[in-house]
Amino acid sequence: METSGNGSDHEVAVEVNNIVKHFGDVKAVDGVSISVKQGEVFGLLGPNGAGKTTLVRIVATLSKPTSGVCLVGGIDTVANPMAVRSLIGLAGQAAAVDDLLTGRENLEIVGRLYQLTTAEARRRADDILERLSLTEAANRQVSTYSGGMRRRIDLGASLVGRPRILLLDEPTTGLDPRTRNELWSFIQELVDNGTTVLLTTQYLEEADELANRLAVIDHGNIIAEGTPDQLKEQLGGDVLMAAPADPDHLSVVAEVLAAVTGETPRIDAKRHSVTVPAADRIAALLEAGQEFQNRGVALRDLSISRPSLDDVFLSITGKSTEDGEDGEDQEVTQ
Ligand SMILES: Nc1ncnc2c1ncn2[C@@H]1O[C@H](COP(=O)(O)OP(=O)(O)OP(=O)(O)O)[C@@H](O)[C@H]1O
Ligand SMILES: [Mg+2]
Repeated sequence: METSGNGSDHEVAVEVNNIVKHFGDVKAVDGVSISVKQGEVFGLLGPNGAGKTTLVRIVATLSKPTSGVCLVGGIDTVANPMAVRSLIGLAGQAAAVDDLLTGRENLEIVGRLYQLTTAEARRRADDILERLSLTEAANRQVSTYSGGMRRRIDLGASLVGRPRILLLDEPTTGLDPRTRNELWSFIQELVDNGTTVLLTTQYLEEADELANRLAVIDHGNIIAEGTPDQLKEQLGGDVLMAAPADPDHLSVVAEVLAAVTGETPRIDAKRHSVTVPAADRIAALLEAGQEFQNRGVALRDLSISRPSLDDVFLSITGKSTEDGEDGEDQEVTQ
């Protein structure tokens, strides 16, 4: 364990208190409060334009809030940005590395910005290149790097100053599944060694893999918050979907699904289908199939799926992230 430095013995690593950020008429962040404890990974989950980057930039002292207070390690981001910067590392959507320099040069320059000696900057650069599997590419210009390598060198640059608090803005967006998994393990390693992480993502799966707690953000507002398990429970976990061949059978189908799962089904009038949370997936699927057969209800489709981010939004707001307008979904009871 490292010795605690300036303000880092504060139990709350990042405190965001009623932050508002307006750009003209655009309410990018509209009164958000979150609290990230030391040593935890806090995930900020939301679709394009939700306000994630805006909030991260405020925490990183790169942008001033319209109102509200943000404390990092107990230090006010507006009053004392330099002290805050000494505590954080930021790996953002807009890569901070220089394309014309090699991977190693990029890391060494960051080291010099931290006023490390040449030898120490080189030592840290080598260490980070090794840990991120970039040693072979270390002496190549970043312009020749693949998307995954760029993400890694950008993350690497944020680690040179050995930050206690790491801000990661969509660290794996656009990466293939294998590279994504590698980055997840690397981030997890940092966390195991005591780093606090505030992470934004559009992927429920990523939040699930890494975050101890997460907040769902949409249109600048937090619309749900909890541990991944709590949220999934709230969202109903896996979803069982049944679509009758004859739309007149929708209510019978809903009745069967309610009986099988003990949950409240949702009728999608647009898609002529019924969905219901199904904790015990396979048993529910088999039992429902049997019951439909018993009742002579012919089906067009019967399936189990994991909830997507879209399902999360559908469930919380009653709206799809894509169609924006009010859905025609309706709860059968309640
Ligand atoms: N500098 C700016 N000037 C004007 N509007 C801005 C500015 N920065 C962000 N916005 C607007 O604020 C809203 C939130 O943007 P933000 O970049 O924070 O979203 P995001 O959640 O990071 O989205 P994405 O997943 O696409 O990165 C958007 O409507 C965006 O157009
Ligand atoms: Mg963003």
